[in-house]
Amino acid sequence: MTQQDAASPTGSEWWRTAVIYQIYPRSFADANGDGIGDLPGITRRLDALADLGVDAIWLSPFMVSPQKDAGYDVADYCDVDPLFGTLDDFDRMLHAAHERGIRVIVDLVPNHSSDQHVWFQEALTAAPGSPERARYIFRDGKGENGELPPNNWESVFGGGMWQRVVEADGTPGQWYLHIFDVSQPDFDWTNPEVREYFRGVLRFWLDRGVDGFRVDVAHGLIKADGLPDYSPPADGDSMGGEDDDVPYWGQPGVHDVYRDWHAVLEEYPGHRALCAEAWLPTPEKTALWVRPDEMNQAFNFPYLTTEWDAAALRKVISESLEAFPAVGAPATWVLSNHDVIRHASRLALTAESPQGEGIGPLSAAQPIPELGLRRARAATTVMLALPGSAYLFQGEELGLPEAVDLPDSARQDPTWFRTNHEKYGRDGCRVPIPWEAAAPAFGFNDSGASWLPQPTDWARFARDVEAADPDSTLHLYTRLLRLRREHGLGAGTLTWIGDEGDDVLAFRNGNVTVIANLGAQPIPLPSGEVLVSSEPLTGDVLPADTAAWLLS
Ligand code: NOJ
Ligand code: CA
Repeated sequence: MTQQDAASPTGSEWWRTAVIYQIYPRSFADANGDGIGDLPGITRRLDALADLGVDAIWLSPFMVSPQKDAGYDVADYCDVDPLFGTLDDFDRMLHAAHERGIRVIVDLVPNHSSDQHVWFQEALTAAPGSPERARYIFRDGKGENGELPPNNWESVFGGGMWQRVVEADGTPGQWYLHIFDVSQPDFDWTNPEVREYFRGVLRFWLDRGVDGFRVDVAHGLIKADGLPDYSPPADGDSMGGEDDDVPYWGQPGVHDVYRDWHAVLEEYPGHRALCAEAWLPTPEKTALWVRPDEMNQAFNFPYLTTEWDAAALRKVISESLEAFPAVGAPATWVLSNHDVIRHASRLALTAESPQGEGIGPLSAAQPIPELGLRRARAATTVMLALPGSAYLFQGEELGLPEAVDLPDSARQDPTWFRTNHEKYGRDGCRVPIPWEAAAPAFGFNDSGASWLPQPTDWARFARDVEAADPDSTLHLYTRLLRLRREHGLGAGTLTWIGDEGDDVLAFRNGNVTVIANLGAQPIPLPSGEVLVSSEPLTGDVLPADTAAWLLS
């Protein structure tokens, strides 16, 4: 058996129970000291992830890109951006991960490319109506001279969703669609050439041995026929909305695409995962993206966006455990990623914090750090006891908060620029993570350079500091992951225990009882041996904002 086989044994649908750790490559570990994390950096630090006990890693994009949206603007889908290394570095990283029994999922960005992609460059110089333009969504403008955009859609990052081009003869020309930044033109997924191209991209990475794909904006690929006008509700979430019929989200045609991809993955031995990033308001709608012959998983964003409230959490957990298994899929769980305020800060915010808006020094609501961390530890203690698969975001195992006080001059998220600094955007969760308290850039590299400045007090979150403290968040995560595996919780079944009070979340999974106190007063601890708790316990009470697992 090769090492790769060892990580992907045939017959195991490993993704059903896996804990998958998201690496944001530019902020994980920087081997060459240029201030931007890279693939050799990841390889060097894999032992830390093996010690933590994760089953797989998912890497945010590291493909060739002008980095207008931190790599979610891909110019070449089949090569590594020199910022992050080379294809050989990728192969070495993959091999080293597999050697440690860690599977590797890569990020695929099929909704749009970079405007530097060769196809888009060809489209710009080609004529309206040409096959080159037909790979993207080019339309004539409205108005007497085509001076108005083809419809009223608004970009997720702010501003309009259309950009007018200058034709080869120098005259103002057609418009192209971009759900995100102007540098991210949307592909036309009704075009068979686009479909064939992405089959090739999938095979390219599958041939190298990856274990699956996280699919960016999986609900956005197909747009409604005729591109009808649409205005989102003022209080809606720009990535999904509460509306049933958004002409650029969740159109039924996308299912054909994923059925096709599923078949491509099936060509390869062993089990590989397709995970949809689809921001939809309910678990029921999210589950539409996972079917036995399509995606294997979808991120549970309704869970991520649920406030710290026992009744709300009970509801979303119950709904998830109905909706996903009903389509033959595992429920998934996630609390943080590179697009949202880290949960160690978010859970102590009173105001709503919609996806992508971020938080900064002048935001009305400011998190209380101690409360946020306490709740985050309790929230993760609940999450890792839930049946199904869970996603972690790098740094949450250290209890990292959002970097709220980033200087404006350091911010890089297009959201910040496209909203004229109205929304801070996502940089605060993307700051390079600390490894060693006393090293330059807290061990992110040897040079001290860092593409976003690290808060000066992050030494206390450094991995070496936490490794030496048995009560640290790092030790909590490590214990939770070990016990989760030992007790088979990922493959278990949840039964609610209903009579513990309104502010209490209590359930049984196999022989483990999980109890979380979301109220302000301590509550009695049920009988049983405490396996792990989110805070040190004294006596037989469970303090406020604390969760514990007990042997029942
Ligand atoms: C979702 C990604 O997670 C986000 O970071 C990115 O900006 C958008 N999709 C556009 O690709
Ligand atoms: Ca680097």
